[in-house]
Amino acid sequence: MIRFENVTKTFKQGDVIRDISFEIQDEEIVVLVGPSGCGKTTTLKMINKLVCPTSGKIFIDNKDIAQCDSVKLRRGMGYVIQKTGLFPHMTVKENIEVILQIEGMKPDKREHVTTEMMRIVGMDPDQYLYRYPGQLSGGQLQRIGVARAFASDPKIVLMDEPFSALDPITRAQLQSELISLQTRLKKTVVFVTHDMDEAVKIADRICIIQNGRIAQYDTPENILKYPANDYISDFVGKKRIWNTPQLIRVKDIMLKNLVVCTPDTSLAECAELMAKNRISMVPVTDSENRVQGIVLQSDLIKQSDRNRPVESIMVKDFPVITADESLLETLNYILKNKLDFVPVVEDGKHLIGLITSRNLMAVLSRQFVDREGVK
Ligand SMILES: Nc1ncnc2c1ncn2[C@@H]1O[C@H](COP(=O)(O)OP(=O)(O)OP(=O)(O)O)[C@@H](O)[C@H]1O
Ligand SMILES: [Mg+2]
Repeated sequence: MIRFENVTKTFKQGDVIRDISFEIQDEEIVVLVGPSGCGKTTTLKMINKLVCPTSGKIFIDNKDIAQCDSVKLRRGMGYVIQKTGLFPHMTVKENIEVILQIEGMKPDKREHVTTEMMRIVGMDPDQYLYRYPGQLSGGQLQRIGVARAFASDPKIVLMDEPFSALDPITRAQLQSELISLQTRLKKTVVFVTHDMDEAVKIADRICIIQNGRIAQYDTPENILKYPANDYISDFVGKKRIWNTPQLIRVKDIMLKNLVVCTPDTSLAECAELMAKNRISMVPVTDSENRVQGIVLQSDLIKQSDRNRPVESIMVKDFPVITADESLLETLNYILKNKLDFVPVVEDGKHLIGLITSRNLMAVLSRQFVDREGVK
């Protein structure tokens, strides 16, 4: 775990980082985002002591890094920067192995690690092992940079805009590779970018920095849905949530103030509820809000004796979903099963909302209209 405790960094022109405190959990990818000059690189460099705090402390696994030897500390951390920092006069192999060599790893073992890492980042060892950095494309260079950072099996990997200079396609590929690399190797990754899309794609947690302070530190989902202030909602972009539909959940779009009846409600009363609210189904709940069934208008209109309770005609066997289900899964589910609605339940039985195909379509079409820029 990395912990910043009241860290301030002052350069000649003034405070760049102002009293920040936050923690980075093991095996998470934390992305620092914010506009140019807000202090992202400075924050990152304080973790490997390329920059020292003016005041405050940084702990790694509860050890104050001010007390640690800088060289040893850095050796235990991978570091990838925009211009990879590969040594131009060394081959790819030598570049990846440089730290392993310093650590005294035997040549056979080194070569094994290097070829394995190259495969992981999608570079054919036979073809590239003996090339020089100058003979590689930008994307290939960054891949080697990533391979080198992970090769010595460090606990922590620091990445400062590693993919910023790449074309969008290569960039997207490298982002996906980083995610799969992380699933296999489970490092603590601190990643700097000014691109919110990149942050949302790769982060477990995003730390938004504004004027040297932490404006919000949370999961991508929470930042998109509940931006802490106007600055963040502007930075994040109001429509971005729609670019990430997998983050939209049933609870974000379900209807909440539902019209319901109880098992002993008469068919006449229920018919009136339907007419008044212009709805074609009513959920039936007991005194503890547990769903007992649903009454369909199509069933109700066939009944001649309207004094009977809804219990006598309600459908007891119907699909339900939970509030955390994603929008896309719900949409698939509704389309596949040709449903007009699905009650949303909590703890297996308690009714908390309703998704109807109509409200789902309305939500989706609103998004479509918004995206086209038509209000
Ligand atoms: N060694 C230094 N001496 C003086 N000022 C510095 C030094 N390093 C950084 N700064 C200043 O500190 C501020 C934050 O710089 P930093 O590099 O951390 O920003 P950043 O968020 O990484 O920006 P970018 O997105 O442009 O990389 C800037 O105003 C920068 O000019
Ligand atoms: Mg920077």
